[in-house]
Amino acid sequence: MTSQEIREKFIKFFEKRGHTVVPSSSLLPTDSSVLFTTAGMQQFKPYYTGTADAMKDFGSLNTVSIQKSMRTSDIDSVGDESHLTFFEMLGNFSFGGYWKKEAIEYAYEFITKEMGLNIDYVSVFAGEGIVPADEESENIWKSVDSSITVKRHGRADNFWGPTGSEGPCGPTTEIYVNGLEVWNIVFNQYYQHADKHLEPLKTQGIDTGMGLERLAMVVQQKQNIFETDLFEPLIKILPENIDIRIQRIMVDHARASAFLISDGVVPSNKEQGYVLRRLLRRLIVHAHMSNIETEVIRELLLTVIKHYSAYYSNLNSETILTEFNKENDKFQKTFKNGLKELEKLTTVDGASAFKLFESFGLPFEIIKEVGGDKVKTLSREEFEAERKRHQEISRAGVEKKFGGHGIKEGDLTAENAEEMKKVTRLHTATHIIVASLQKVLGQKLPQAGADITVERLRFDFTFPRKVTPEELKQAEDIANEIVDKDLPVTCREMDLQEALDSGASAFFKLKYPPRVKVYTVGAESNPFSRELCGGPHVSHTAEIGHITITKEESVSGGNRRIRATIS
Ligand code: ALA
Repeated sequence: MTSQEIREKFIKFFEKRGHTVVPSSSLLPTDSSVLFTTAGMQQFKPYYTGTADAMKDFGSLNTVSIQKSMRTSDIDSVGDESHLTFFEMLGNFSFGGYWKKEAIEYAYEFITKEMGLNIDYVSVFAGEGIVPADEESENIWKSVDSSITVKRHGRADNFWGPTGSEGPCGPTTEIYVNGLEVWNIVFNQYYQHADKHLEPLKTQGIDTGMGLERLAMVVQQKQNIFETDLFEPLIKILPENIDIRIQRIMVDHARASAFLISDGVVPSNKEQGYVLRRLLRRLIVHAHMSNIETEVIRELLLTVIKHYSAYYSNLNSETILTEFNKENDKFQKTFKNGLKELEKLTTVDGASAFKLFESFGLPFEIIKEVGGDKVKTLSREEFEAERKRHQEISRAGVEKKFGGHGIKEGDLTAENAEEMKKVTRLHTATHIIVASLQKVLGQKLPQAGADITVERLRFDFTFPRKVTPEELKQAEDIANEIVDKDLPVTCREMDLQEALDSGASAFFKLKYPPRVKVYTVGAESNPFSRELCGGPHVSHTAEIGHITITKEESVSGGNRRIRATIS
């Protein structure tokens, strides 16, 4: 049975039993308390709590889906026989439609009849705290098949949820085949609040999850998931002499990357983009160390598309290759020096590992894999703590400039959305006035800080004498010409060095992160102004309105200060 046949059988089985087929949601969840979609139930959270109406939205209280899922917690185990970052989760759900009896009977029938498998044993919740042992499920299993072994397991195995900071949760029953847990059936009975206390849900619900890869492994009678038809075409691309663990890491990471990029993730140093960056870079370094051409990584990515687009229509070869190529171009320039630097070190702690990431882009996983004895004591926690510390330092720099209240967007702070629009216009006006003054005074003006309120903009710069009223008038005229021309304002993210090389001025005396945003006013090829800046900015200069320079004065440290308003 092929994996595509398994998908179809699963969907049809539940469709026939009154479930509405719902497509997979994106790997990027709407619930911002979690980084990725890690389970099929995530898109259905509001139906369990009653804040959304399943009958109205699906015409049924029951749904079935195959959900794209991503679990970064397993990243260090990838390479063994069963762990993955990205996987597909088969699931049936009910929001007050049916309960334990039907859920168990469906699962039993699907596993034994449709898949033709023998169940080793099942487990039910042993009870803990306010949640009693699940005798009801135990009895249901016995009535479904009196020969079945029912084991009782504790909270770690047989209680599930919530995803994120709060949500539905409950005791589970799990089905084991060939020693593997293949299906987790959750009886959502409680809502776990952020402070961890459990409240019974008004309507009980069913949430199930079965990893397609594991199911395919037992159905196709393979020794491990990488021998199934889900991975076999990918593994085949790699030379046979490469360490099996590396082969598995490469195919897992290629598959996960293709799906992440197709759902809109781009490599970055933050959140989902940071995960994607690490996956791509690990692929690149392993290809290099195994003497595989970069072309082979592209072939892996294209093969993912070829084999998965029958079921996932949004896999886009152009976007996937573009993002891969961009990351590859950047990383190729630095990682070999990073590896050399790593070789020179005698021991690597959190701080030196983070330095290798910051300066050469080496991800933690690679440092850990190739560092041998010198990274023995290095832990992910230590590395991440160091990364967080650095992020906080640069954030504190920005907050100090702009105060710490109201709403924040990039470098700006305002009391409300209305004011944010105004300070955004003033922010772009600041860039334009600086560039205009530089034209009039015929030199670069080192920036010494800025302050924008809803009434006015203000910025300081180093210049040895007073700027004359005539010069100010000229600069104001140039600035207003730029406004009238309605030039585009565009933003590009790039490496710090690339930004400085492109002639962008570093506006504030801040410590910049390795990846920065560069705002350009005017054409890319012939910009009127180009600044390293956290934004936000207007998208066209005419949005600013008329600019008036109101004051020029001397401030401490030999600096000059200019104030201006817009109307
Ligand atoms: N939500 C449950 C899981 O992910 C089914 O295991």
